[in-house]
Amino acid sequence: MSQKRSKCWVRTGSRSTCDAVRLVPGPWAAHAGFRRREGRVSPSTTEVGDPIQRHSGAEMPFSASGDAMLVLVVGGTRGTGLLAVHLLQQQGYGVRVLARDPRGVKAHTGPSIEIVQGDVTKAETLVPAVQGVRAILYTAGVRSGHWAGEDRIKHTDFEGVTHTLSAARTAGSVERFVYMTSIGGVAPSFSATLLNLVKRNVLKWRRRAEDAIRVSGMNYSVVRAGFLVNAPGGGRSVQISQGDLPLGPRYRIARADVAEVLVEALYHGGASHATFEVVWGDGPRRQGVAEMLSRLRPDSTTA
Ligand SMILES: NC(=O)c1ccc[n+]([C@@H]2O[C@H](COP(=O)([O-])OP(=O)(O)OC[C@H]3O[C@@H](n4cnc5c(N)ncnc54)[C@H](OP(=O)(O)O)[C@@H]3O)[C@@H](O)[C@H]2O)c1
Repeated sequence: MSQKRSKCWVRTGSRSTCDAVRLVPGPWAAHAGFRRREGRVSPSTTEVGDPIQRHSGAEMPFSASGDAMLVLVVGGTRGTGLLAVHLLQQQGYGVRVLARDPRGVKAHTGPSIEIVQGDVTKAETLVPAVQGVRAILYTAGVRSGHWAGEDRIKHTDFEGVTHTLSAARTAGSVERFVYMTSIGGVAPSFSATLLNLVKRNVLKWRRRAEDAIRVSGMNYSVVRAGFLVNAPGGGRSVQISQGDLPLGPRYRIARADVAEVLVEALYHGGASHATFEVVWGDGPRRQGVAEMLSRLRPDSTTA
């Protein structure tokens, strides 16, 4: 069998996996820390525009025309989702934000971001939002620190996810669903008990949302973040693990660091079909997020 020569674009500092995926650069590539590499593509492997697949490194797919991948951020109006929007924009992705109230969102996101009106509790509003989208980054949820009854939690934190998955399946273009949730859904703790009282049984509904994602047939990453703080990202070490960390202030992380992990997970083969936790480790950052994601195991239900 003959092999085709192909030009690959790989992120500076990451391993090339040109043997697995052929990529076409967008005009943004030089500005986003990408460099050109020669590689081989076997005829049996992924071609331009094919879905993101599990492979060993960190790469981004682009359409044959060189257009950047369009990512829908659900929850991108504030908090971690908004930080992810900025990162995606810096890295040259096309970004669409779902907003319940689009007024004023532009002021935070900038003119190049597409805003689509929608509400995850209203399934019909998600259909236009997912049109043409290649990946979904989902950080939406009932606001932290505010009391919410179980009905509202169920509608937003569980049905919001299932509605989005349905819309994504119908659209047919979505290749990766990256879901941000919380640690503490399994291991009991005082903080988890308190959280479940304030946001009624939220951890139960979050676990059900995770389960729905795992059986959805979509390529996904479930990212369980520790206790969120507002602090600059990139300074402290980040610990990525696949256990059942309890919820508590001991396991904290900056929203900015979580946003970095979510964006990296969007196109990283190691994060495909994987559930993992992300919290701060000890000391300064010594290891890249992409390297840590490379060591993840896929979930046993889909492996
Ligand atoms: N607080 C913690 O320590 C912690 C720890 C781990 C994980 N988490 C979870 O991580 C996620 C991000 O947290 P965060 O504090 O950074 O963000 P956040 O400030 O809670 O933002 C939540 C986002 O969800 C959106 N949203 C809520 N209900 C919606 C609906 N019905 N339809 C569409 N969008 C909706 C909000 O949009 P609007 O602007 O319209 O309100 C907002 O963009 C949340 O899901 C949170 O529960 C929190």
